[in-house]
Amino acid sequence: MLQQTLAAGCKLIDATLERLLPTGEQPPASIHKAMRHSVFAGGKRLRPILCMEAARMVNGKNANELPPGIEELGCALEMIHTYSLIHDDLPALDNDDLRRGKPTCHVVFGEAIAILAGDALQTCAYQTLSQLKCPAEARVRIIEEIARETGTVDGMIGGQVMDLEAENTTPDASRVESIHRSKTGALLTASLVSGGLYNNGNGDDIARLREFGRCVGLAFQIVDDVLDVTQSSAQLGKTAGKDTATEKATYPAVFGVEESLRQADGLIASGCLALDHYGTRGQTLKALAHFLVERKS
Ligand code: IPE
Ligand code: IPE
Ligand code: MG
Ligand code: MG
Ligand code: MG
Repeated sequence: MLQQTLAAGCKLIDATLERLLPTGEQPPASIHKAMRHSVFAGGKRLRPILCMEAARMVNGKNANELPPGIEELGCALEMIHTYSLIHDDLPALDNDDLRRGKPTCHVVFGEAIAILAGDALQTCAYQTLSQLKCPAEARVRIIEEIARETGTVDGMIGGQVMDLEAENTTPDASRVESIHRSKTGALLTASLVSGGLYNNGNGDDIARLREFGRCVGLAFQIVDDVLDVTQSSAQLGKTAGKDTATEKATYPAVFGVEESLRQADGLIASGCLALDHYGTRGQTLKALAHFLVERKS
């Protein structure tokens, strides 16, 4: 059942990204090839899937149906996520040469085009958001939500700044928690909340999705840190052991692997409580939350 949700979500998102992104032949071809290289290198598409399942859950009447056009919102989230990965891998940031099992964007296309490909994915995301097929009021709220949560105040970019500035320092628990909530938790939360907004979720729905996202988003980055320590590069499709080598502020560095995983499990349990209100309709998102901590890549 969960495998089916993941596979169907990936397929829908990949097909829609294919349609929304300029072809690799569209001039200037170098940047379009670079954008496509990173987008189609094989991500898990978790943010779009969380977004779509949140939308499904908040609508009690047609819980099995996705609202028309929601896949375009999912694609915008995936474009923003991929832009963040391209920039995260740049020599000036984490300096990684492997991503999603392929050489990173700057390794293949050079740093200048990689920087611009990240920028372009972000603008393409907002163009897509501005054309969403939902009521105008929801569209504006979605754009506001995503812009805020990827911004500098408690958002993704702010988190990336804190992550870089914490390198080679002795990390403490509250600092690493706030880095993780910002750099990763915020976009994950915005994915869930925007899915709820798209399908006319009410204030209570949005508050529940936000609470679920807050827990699951932090757990997701804790597990990302743990996998960096416990898995191989081949398994991850990115360079394993990198966080230790660069003295990143991570959960395993502060708490050790076992306690980190215990905390991630606790966060998943708390997050799922926020969805109890939905009964069986909340089951897919709860299963996804468990998958996020059990994943091996
Ligand atoms: C990796 O995210 C970067 C983080 C924010 C931890 P994912 O693990 O979702 O990466 P992809 O999209 O599947 O490549
Ligand atoms: C990445 O965190 C967070 C963002 C891209 C916003 P990491 O630096 O831990 O992600 P990986 O491990 O390189 O995928
Ligand atoms: Mg990083
Ligand atoms: Mg990184
Ligand atoms: Mg990592």
